[in-house]
Amino acid sequence: MNLLSLKGSLPDIKKVFYFPEIESTNLYAKSSNLDEDSLVITDYQISGKGRFGRVWKSIPGLNLCFTLVKKLPLNLDELQLLNLYTAYSLVCVLKNLFPKLEKKLILKWPNDILLSNKKICGILIEVQNLKNKNKKFLIGIGLNVNQTDFPNDISENASSLKKESKQSSDISRESILINFIKFFYENLSLLKDRQALINSWMASSAIVDKKITYKQHEDGLEQTGIAKGLDNDCGLIIEFPDKKRKTFYSGEISLLYK
Ligand code: BTN
Repeated sequence: MNLLSLKGSLPDIKKVFYFPEIESTNLYAKSSNLDEDSLVITDYQISGKGRFGRVWKSIPGLNLCFTLVKKLPLNLDELQLLNLYTAYSLVCVLKNLFPKLEKKLILKWPNDILLSNKKICGILIEVQNLKNKNKKFLIGIGLNVNQTDFPNDISENASSLKKESKQSSDISRESILINFIKFFYENLSLLKDRQALINSWMASSAIVDKKITYKQHEDGLEQTGIAKGLDNDCGLIIEFPDKKRKTFYSGEISLLYK
């Protein structure tokens, strides 16, 4: 990571913590109880954390792995909005930086980014002091930037910006990070406009009226249905073949790549 190019380019960030390698940037931010507007970034995570206890694997020096510590006055029923907002911010930045990839970059519910139907980004948001009005969020982002080889177990469903854009030179991780932080801080008011945020998210997800396959966490059952959009609580509305509808919330199901 070129820390020199980061210096002075992140006016919203009070302190950057860089580690050539570290267990997990989320874990560090949590255990060190960092102040808000801190950024923890590493070139290699020894055991990166994914959602639902999964691991996040990333090859040293090629991708972005960071955690932004941000305090926000969100109510409990607004927590999911931060997932949508973070993914939406990053996808906007990527579309802007890589206009040729614009149509292939889509949001996958609730907060993944796909490029050509393969996952390039995962987001893990953890919250501290849940009871406070002003909650401290650890916004962990893993974005595959320059990695072109993926382990067999994930190669079918995972990719990177460099791999999908088929470009030979490396993509600047610093420029993506700087632009993301800028967008994130500049557009925070969107978090207070639930409907506008949900609509913006949906416009970048291309999920409405698409056939989807999903797996229920409770019983591992795989089912298909038609996605009908998000409800007011960011739940995914699915229509079954008998036209009945059910809304699923984050944590209940995972969408599959089919
Ligand atoms: C997922 O899709 O399961 C979420 C993956 C989140 C990975 C990022 S990498 C930076 C931050 N630190 C972690 O340990 N995890 C997140």
